[in-house]
Amino acid sequence: MSLLITGGTIVTASDEYRGDVFVEGETIAAIGSRLTMAADRTIDATGKLVIPGGIDVHTHLDMPFGGTRSSDDFESGTIAAAHGGTTTIVDFAIQYKGQTLHHAWEAWMKKADGKAAIDYGFHMIVTELTDQVEQEMDALVRQGVTSFKLFMAYPGVFMLDDASIFRALLRTGKNGGTICMHAENGGVIDVLVKKALAEGKTAPKYHALTRPARAEAEATHRAIALAEMADVPIYIVHLSAAEALEMVTEARDRGLPAYAETCPQYLFLSYDNYEEPGFEGAKYVMSPPLRPKETQDRLWRGLAFNDLQAISTDHCPFCMKEQKVLGQDDFSKIPNGAPGIETRMSLVYDGGVRTGRISMNRFVELTATSPAKIFGLFPRKGTIAPGSDADIVIFDPNRTMRLSAKTHHMRVDYNPYEGREVTGVTDTVISRGRVIIDGEKFVGRAGSGSFLRRSAR
Ligand code: URP
Ligand code: ZN
Ligand code: ZN
Repeated sequence: MSLLITGGTIVTASDEYRGDVFVEGETIAAIGSRLTMAADRTIDATGKLVIPGGIDVHTHLDMPFGGTRSSDDFESGTIAAAHGGTTTIVDFAIQYKGQTLHHAWEAWMKKADGKAAIDYGFHMIVTELTDQVEQEMDALVRQGVTSFKLFMAYPGVFMLDDASIFRALLRTGKNGGTICMHAENGGVIDVLVKKALAEGKTAPKYHALTRPARAEAEATHRAIALAEMADVPIYIVHLSAAEALEMVTEARDRGLPAYAETCPQYLFLSYDNYEEPGFEGAKYVMSPPLRPKETQDRLWRGLAFNDLQAISTDHCPFCMKEQKVLGQDDFSKIPNGAPGIETRMSLVYDGGVRTGRISMNRFVELTATSPAKIFGLFPRKGTIAPGSDADIVIFDPNRTMRLSAKTHHMRVDYNPYEGREVTGVTDTVISRGRVIIDGEKFVGRAGSGSFLRRSAR
């Protein structure tokens, strides 16, 4: 199967030019102007952008959490991702206490097998660190699971102590893996949550009010300090607070390899959403929580100046009806997480590129190239170049769409951006040479996504 994409504006992290892209089989075979190869299918991309497929390195599909399970599985979640212009995800497998990492990896491979419609990799969440688990980390890195998420929050569930975190960091110095950190001070938050509940404060907004920005900043600082002492890089996930960003900026100014991602929810939503009437605030219960509106400008600045290197989604959807409602009388029982796998590219293009906050090249870099580089997928993924996988999005920068639960493809009964109009919409999506989104239709196949063995540092 071959494909010729003609007349579009090709945008990578470094370039922007008019050209044609010739795809043969699963990879990009040639880029040039007025290419004349005969192809099985020609797509006219005149007036459109031709960009690398989005890479979302933070998703939670089919994940048990808070007494329930995230509502998108690998089929519905990856199809929704494809609709939004994402062609690769890196999801999180979870080691539960007493389990081996291998067991967790196999369990998550089974969840994805036969279901994923786009390519996928896994990070491993480590919740218990024994000598055997350390050895397993080495084995996983060799098998292409090259990053590990550790939690400084959720005591008794996911949280690791500093000694275990430090040992895991030291291990990645030997095996070339990368530690991803959920940086919130779980002990402090636990005390604040218990205090709020004892005072009868049960509404969703107390989720945010018991997770102060300083608890995120303190943990971010500690995570970076531990990584500095272990002499290894660190990647802070879902950074939300300006105070935490200051810690990353300070470390980077000292030349440390500290990296961080933020997510669209922190760029477009704010604490004010928790003040919506009734139980509506539960839609936005996620950790870390949404911050004051002024934070958004600080995050955009961090993205523009490379103190933040990636925008991922932390897609972790729970329906309002049967799931968020578990915390109707107690905010601490509201499952943490929100949907976003489908809306990332359009939101960031509309709110970032169209407003002049970031360039088109930076948009590509933040949503594809830089996450591919940090997580061992580049240059196979994350760019448009001969030899790279033909993961390509033909993106219409002028088409407008209204975001809504009525029209989105995520399996969740609300959209956090309900009614918001965005300009810049995915038109056609190609995954390893196959057209999987054509117009607004999914024409791919569940199960056609492949597991990606990622490289170590
Ligand atoms: O609230 C969130 N972020 N849910 C997903 C789990 C995590 O910590 O990333
Ligand atoms: Zn987290
Ligand atoms: Zn997450």
